[in-house]
Amino acid sequence: PEPHLSDAFGRRFGYLRLSVTDQCNFRCNYCLPDGYQGSGKTAFLSLDEIRSAVGAFAALGTRKVRITGGEPSLRRDLPDIIRAVASTPGIDTVAMTTNGYRLERSVDDWVAAGLTNLNLSIDSLDPAQFATITGHDVLPSLLRGLDRALALGLKVKINAVLLRGFNFDQLQSFLDWVKHTPVSMRFIELMQTGDNQVFFAENHVSGEQIRQHLLDQGWLPVLRETNAGPALEFCHPHYHGKIGLIMPYSRDFCASCNRLRLSSVGKMHMCLFGEQGYDIRELLQADRQAELLQTLPQLLGEKRESHYLHQGQTGATRHLAMLGG
Ligand code: GTP
Ligand code: 5AD
Ligand code: SF4
Repeated sequence: PEPHLSDAFGRRFGYLRLSVTDQCNFRCNYCLPDGYQGSGKTAFLSLDEIRSAVGAFAALGTRKVRITGGEPSLRRDLPDIIRAVASTPGIDTVAMTTNGYRLERSVDDWVAAGLTNLNLSIDSLDPAQFATITGHDVLPSLLRGLDRALALGLKVKINAVLLRGFNFDQLQSFLDWVKHTPVSMRFIELMQTGDNQVFFAENHVSGEQIRQHLLDQGWLPVLRETNAGPALEFCHPHYHGKIGLIMPYSRDFCASCNRLRLSSVGKMHMCLFGEQGYDIRELLQADRQAELLQTLPQLLGEKRESHYLHQGQTGATRHLAMLGG
């Protein structure tokens, strides 16, 4: 049988989210309203450490790696990172989540390096509102970058966090937009983190409300593939694009969890909202691969059944830039 990582709740983990920096140049009001503050002086994982980590995960059955941040494109060696991941035997999907700041300039290089899937955050299709939410007036460049990404054949998902007091009025604009735009448009429920308590209380919108709206407008739930992960997908016969709902506050969200996380300083996180992380950096050195292969499956014993967000717990997560969501 194929090797695979699994936990005590019968979940399988073939998907690694690899954060390559926690630095970000945006100031999204729900995430880093005051901008990046700096995380200390620990250096981010080197290319060799990344190779070693991804190699071990691939040997344990991982097939998909998502490169995250902070904002991954702030790393000058990003194309090398993509190339290292893409050339690891066993890895068939190299995805990245980005705020899009460097998309237009760099997407050709990323694809040449082996990127296959791109998730791009666009919280508003109104340029002024986009600037209010993110702190950067760059929507037109993002949309040009998106066109280029699609022309290059990337599979693209667009992320929007709908906020009661800001962009909730954009819901219909997004739906109209995907009529002709071949992307998967995902609406993400705002999550409470250590730093955004008041903002969360004022701006959280239940994904259930959006789900109802979609069903009323003739959107059809797509049957989940095994290993699909927690997003709920919808399609519509008259639309090019699809919709995905990421509703961490719905009851069974974590039951389909298929991902593990490695932070930019080499800590394994069993969940986005959990412990401080297990430091595996020493095991990423070349002569310790055997120990690494032994340790990773053992860490799965620490994975809890849920994030317990519904109980108001946010673990050690101050904001999602820490771990790249
Ligand atoms: P896929 O790889 O396509 O499944 O993408 P994704 O939706 O997981 O990735 P992306 O990086 O675009 O994240 C979109 C949103 O989903 C972010 O707000 C993430 O924080 C959130 N998210 C992703 N995985 C998890 C998870 O395991 N738990 C929770 N609570 N949120 C998650
Ligand atoms: N709740 C929900 N989504 C968030 N993101 C960042 N912070 C939060 C939060 N508190 C999203 C970003 C990006 C993705 C990686 O995470 O909008 O699309
Ligand atoms: Fe925005 Fe992502 Fe940066 Fe957070 S990490 S400020 S969500 S772009």
